[in-house]
Amino acid sequence: MSIFGRLLVNFSVRKQSRFQLQRSRYSVCGSRTAPSLKKTRSPVLFLEINISARSYSTMAEKKPFERLPKVVRPKHYDLFLQPDLQAFTFNGNTKISVQVSSATEKIILNSIDLSLKEVIYTPEGGVSTPATQVALSTEEETATLTFQPPIQPGVGSLFISFTGELNDKMKGFYRSQYTSPTGEVRHNGVTQFEATDARRCFPCWDEPAIKATFDISLCVPQDRVALSNMPVASEEGQGENRLVKFERTPIMSTYLVAVVVGEFDYVEDVSSDGIKVRVYTPLGKKEQGKFALHVATKVLPHYKEYFQVAYPLPKIDLIAIADFSAGAMENWGLVTYRETCLLVDSENTSAVRKQWIALVVGHELAHQWFGNLVTMEWWTHLWLNEGYASFVEFLCVEHLFPEYDIWTQFVTDTYVRALELDCLENSHPIEVPVGHPSEIDEIFDDISYNKGASVIRMLHRYIGDEDFRKGMNLYLTRHQFGNAETEDLWAALEEASGKPVKDVMSSWTKQKGFPVISISSQQKGDSRELQLIQRQFCAAGDCKDESALWLVPITLSTAKEPDKVAQNFVFDTKSKTITLENVSENDWVKVNPGTVGFYRTRYSPEMLSQLIPAIKSKTLPPLDRLGLLDDVFAMVQAGHTDTTEVLRLMLAFAEGEENFTVWSNVSSCLGKLDSLFDYADDCKGPFRVYAKNLLSNIYLKLGWDPKPGESHLDTLLRSLVIGRLGWLGHEDIVNEARIRFEKHISGEQQLPADLRSPVYRTVLAAGDAATFDTMLKLYRSTDLQEEKDRISRGLGALKDQKLLQQVLDFAMSDEVRSQDTIFVVGSVASSRDGRNLAWAFLKKHLQTFTDRYQGGFLIARLVKMVTENFASEDAAKEVEQFFATSPVPGTERTVQQSVETIRLNTAWLNRDQAKISAFFATYK
Ligand code: BES
Ligand code: ZN
Repeated sequence: MSIFGRLLVNFSVRKQSRFQLQRSRYSVCGSRTAPSLKKTRSPVLFLEINISARSYSTMAEKKPFERLPKVVRPKHYDLFLQPDLQAFTFNGNTKISVQVSSATEKIILNSIDLSLKEVIYTPEGGVSTPATQVALSTEEETATLTFQPPIQPGVGSLFISFTGELNDKMKGFYRSQYTSPTGEVRHNGVTQFEATDARRCFPCWDEPAIKATFDISLCVPQDRVALSNMPVASEEGQGENRLVKFERTPIMSTYLVAVVVGEFDYVEDVSSDGIKVRVYTPLGKKEQGKFALHVATKVLPHYKEYFQVAYPLPKIDLIAIADFSAGAMENWGLVTYRETCLLVDSENTSAVRKQWIALVVGHELAHQWFGNLVTMEWWTHLWLNEGYASFVEFLCVEHLFPEYDIWTQFVTDTYVRALELDCLENSHPIEVPVGHPSEIDEIFDDISYNKGASVIRMLHRYIGDEDFRKGMNLYLTRHQFGNAETEDLWAALEEASGKPVKDVMSSWTKQKGFPVISISSQQKGDSRELQLIQRQFCAAGDCKDESALWLVPITLSTAKEPDKVAQNFVFDTKSKTITLENVSENDWVKVNPGTVGFYRTRYSPEMLSQLIPAIKSKTLPPLDRLGLLDDVFAMVQAGHTDTTEVLRLMLAFAEGEENFTVWSNVSSCLGKLDSLFDYADDCKGPFRVYAKNLLSNIYLKLGWDPKPGESHLDTLLRSLVIGRLGWLGHEDIVNEARIRFEKHISGEQQLPADLRSPVYRTVLAAGDAATFDTMLKLYRSTDLQEEKDRISRGLGALKDQKLLQQVLDFAMSDEVRSQDTIFVVGSVASSRDGRNLAWAFLKKHLQTFTDRYQGGFLIARLVKMVTENFASEDAAKEVEQFFATSPVPGTERTVQQSVETIRLNTAWLNRDQAKISAFFATYK
C-alpha cells in the first residue's frame, strides 16, 4: 500500500527561526579543517549569488529540468555534521573525492537552504584553490561553484563547509520533539532524505545513480545516542561533546544516507545469519520494540534465502521517530519509522496495527536489497523500489504469520486500490517521466506502490515462484552496488523463465490504465465456447482512446474444480474465442481465479447469474467472491450497469459470508455508497437500513467479546463489522458502545485495543460536547501515538458543526503533531457537513499548510481526503478553480484526480438516483 493509501504524517512546535550559530559548540569536534590555503592563488573569499525563485523567473522562462552535468563525479564523501539541539542549527563540512573527466571552470551540485562557507578545490598533489563564485539557485536546488583557472581532468577533492537550520519540516536534517521522562520538552536530530532532500543537509550530487562511499562522523553531546548507516568505528571526546566516527559505507545513493542524534533506548538481537539488529525506541519504552525486533531478525535470513544474496552490512537499526512525514524510510542500515509503524504495546496495540507493523518492517527490509543494493537509475523507475517492496512485504508476513492469510488481504489493501486510481483519465503509467522534486514527490502514489506490486504479483504467478526467484537473484547480483531500469528487471526474469516477460510486462508499465475483459459464452455439447474482448477500462464509461492493448495473462476456473486453473493463455489481441472442455451447461465459469490478473471482468448476464449462487454456497473461493463483487461495483461506477445490480449482489453475502477480506470489500463498497448518498437524501435513510440488515448476521455470529482462541482474522472482522455498524447508527451497537465506553473511562473495564477505534467512533458519532471533552482528556492522558491516532482520527465522526469546527482548530493546535494534522482534518471530511467545513478550512489555511509541509505528499493527501467525495458539478468547478488560482506544487495531479472523481460521482448520482430510490421502495 502506498504512502497515500496507508498512512499515514509533523509537529506541534511552532516555526522556529532562531539561527544562533554563535551558540554552537565547535570546540571538541572540529574534526576536519579546510585545506591549507597558504599556497593558494587568491584569498578565501567568493562571491555568493542567490538566484531566488522569483528573481529567476523574471530573468527567464522556467527552464526545463536537467540532471546534473557529468563532468565532475563524486567517488567518496567525508561528511562531518554537528547539530545543535538547542539552537536548532547544524554546521558541517564535507570533503568530496571527485573524478573530473574534462577541464571545467564550474562544478554543479545540489544544495538548498544551506549557507556555504568555504569552498575549496584541491587537485591530487596540487594546490588548493577557493571558488571565485558560488551561485545558489533555489529553483534548481543547485550550487554552481566557479573556479579560476579551470579545474583540470583527473582526481581531486572538493572541500565545502556549511551551516543550516535543523528545521521543523520533517525533511533534510530536522528536529523532532519529545517529552523526556522528567517532563522536559527536548529535541532529537533526524534525517529524511528521500527523495531529494539530502541536499538540505550537505552539498552533494543528489541523484540516485550518482553513488559514492561515505565516511560519516558526528559531533554530539556526550549523553546523546549517535547513529548512522554503519556501525561506530571510533569515539573520542572530552568535555560536553564527543566525536563519533562511523565505518565506511558501501557505495550507495545519497537519498539513503542517514543520521540520528538523540535520546533512545533499545532492544537487540542477532539474526541467524549474524546481523546485529537493534530496535531503538523512546526512552523507557524498549519493551515496545520487541515485536519489530522479532520480525526483523527473522526476516533478514528469510530474504537472504529467498534472494540468495546476503544483507551486505554488519548491522541494521530500526528506530521510532516522533515526528516523521512518511510511515517509514529504508535508509541503509538505519531504518526510520513513525512510532505507529514500529512500536507494539502489548496491552494497547490492536491486531490490525501489529499486522501493519509486520508489513512495514518487511517492506523497509526488502528495500535493503531492492532499492539500496540495486537502485533505480532515475525516479522514473521509482516503482522498481516501491512496487517491488510492496510485493515482498507480503512474502515476509506470509512467511512469519501464515495465520494472517495476508495474500488474501493483498487484494483489498493493494490490488483494488490500484484499479480504482488507474481507471481515471488522470492516472499515469507506472514508468513516468519526472524531473523537478515536486514531480518526484507526487509519484509516491497508489500507482507506483499498488499497481507496481499488483503487476509483480501477476508476473510472479505467470512465471512461477522458482523462476521468479532465479530471475530476482540474477537481477540483484548483476546490478548490485549499481543502478537498474525496469528493462533490466525484465531481462533477468526473461532469462530465468524463458517467457516473453519484457513484452508482456511493458504493456503494463509503459501505458496507464488496464483492460476490462468482456466475456460471453455458448454451450457446445460438453464444452463451452468463450468470446473474449479486451478494451481499456475507464471510470467514465467510454474511453477517449480505443487503441490501447495489453498482453493479458488470462486464467479461468470452473465449477468442476473451483480452486484450480482450468486454462491459461496470454490474451494479446483485441478479441479471441477459446473453448473450455468438460464444462456442463449449469457450470459457472470464472475469469481471473484468485484475482491475480490486473484487469476487470465484465460477464454476460447469463454467466453472471450462474456465479451468484456460488457466492451464497461459497463454492466460489473467497478471492473470487470478492473479485466478482469488486468488478461489478466498478461496472456500476462506470455506468455499464446500474447500482441496483450491486445492491442485489451484495445481499448474496448477507447470510453465510464469514471471510474477513470479503467483508472488508463489502464494507468498503458500503462506505462508498454511504458517501455518495450524502448527496441523495432520499436514498440515505433506506440505504442505511439495507446496510445494517446486510451486516446483522455476521454481527450476531461474532458478538462483542473475543472467543477463546479465536483467529486473528475473526478479531479483525469483529472490529470491522462493529465499526461499520456503529457508523451506520445501528441502535444496539450504539448503546453497547456507550456502555462499554463508560466502563472504559471509569476504569471499570478496559476496552480491548481491537475495539477501541470502532467504539470511539461510534460514541463520537452519537456524541455531544461532553463526549468531545472526554475524548480530549483521553487523548491527553496517553503517550502512545497509536492511541492518540485512534482518538484524533475518530473526532471527525462528531455531527455537530460547532464541534467539528473545534476539531479542525484542535488539528492545527500544538497538541497535534504536523504529521497527524491532515488525518484529523481528513476525518472531519467524512460526512457531508464536515466536508464543507474541512474544505472551507483548507482554503482558508492553505498558506499555513503549505508553510508547514513545504510541498511533499502530505498536502496532496490532505487535498484528496477533503475534496474527492463531493458530488456536484459546482463542487468540481470550485475545487478546480481554487487550485488554478492558488496552485500548490506537488498536488497538481492529485487535484486533477479529485476533480475527475467529483465529476464521476456527480454523473453516477444523475444516472442512478431514481433507480436506487425505486429499489429501496420495494426492498424490505
Ligand atoms: N521509501 C519510502 C519512504 C518515502 C515515501 C520516502 C515517500 C519519501 C517519500 C518507504 O519505503 C515507504 O514506502 N514507506 C511507506 C510504508 C510502506 C510500508 C509502504 C510509507 O511511508 O507509507
Ligand atoms: Zn518503500
